[in-house]
Amino acid sequence: MEIINSAREMTLYSEAARMRGARIGFVPTMGFLHEGHLSLMREARRRADVVIASVFVNPTQFGPNEDLAKYPRNFERDCAMMETVAVDAVYAPDAAEMYPPGAQTWVEVTELTRGLCGRSRPGHFRGVTTVVAKLFNITKPHLAFFGEKDFQQLRAIERMVADLNFDVEIVPMPIVREADGLAMSSRNAYLDPHERKQALALSRALMVAREKYLWDARTPADLAAAARAVLEQNEAVKIEYVEAVDAETLEAAVSLERPILLAIAARVGNTRLIDNIVLRASAVSRERLRA
Ligand code: PAF
Repeated sequence: MEIINSAREMTLYSEAARMRGARIGFVPTMGFLHEGHLSLMREARRRADVVIASVFVNPTQFGPNEDLAKYPRNFERDCAMMETVAVDAVYAPDAAEMYPPGAQTWVEVTELTRGLCGRSRPGHFRGVTTVVAKLFNITKPHLAFFGEKDFQQLRAIERMVADLNFDVEIVPMPIVREADGLAMSSRNAYLDPHERKQALALSRALMVAREKYLWDARTPADLAAAARAVLEQNEAVKIEYVEAVDAETLEAAVSLERPILLAIAARVGNTRLIDNIVLRASAVSRERLRA
């Protein structure tokens, strides 16, 4: 596995692969990898000839009072994990390489990033889309893999790719959960054992809302209310939002007949966690599921 720090070298590596006719699969990460990241890399391995992953804790997607300084990092461990899934090259730039002095260009997806996490994390998605656009230009992938856990991020990147004519296919991948339901996240490392237990309220809330959806929900608001009720039973969980939105537009959902994203953001102790589920059965298939 090659480790590449400079943008120029990374681009030369990708151009050489493209010249050989190889298809490049790319998995961008901020490191401190877990099984969720590895699932993306395995899929990239399956679908592409050359697999590139990036490890870069992107400062522009953190707000001034967020966890940039203490974001968990362990590059050696990350490399050992990437070796196990046969990543070919790791792009690991430093911040000065990524944002040289004088940089002043941003990529911003406007509407899709207004609500949900965009409301409480101003500037976050602008940082994400800017760095992902740069990473695409540097690594020149044919395919890029993103987890559905960061659903709003995924939608914003899909929109950016369509709007700016990036020649890359975005491959969404399902959320990977621990055996007890907790969605995998690098930030789970912040949770102490007690908080780790409380954090299960998020996935439990989504499961309860899913039952509601299948059995007796009349409106999208019923789903959010069912999830909220579960979260509110847990004093240690401070809700930031629980929303049922249209899974395409991320606008407030108005009907159960269109795919719905039920999304949660909450703090457990000092740790901000997100989780979601996409509900996409029609009334007829819900009838069938109940039968
Ligand atoms: O999902 C992440 O880890 C980050 O937002 C990404 C896509 C690597 C951009 O920094």
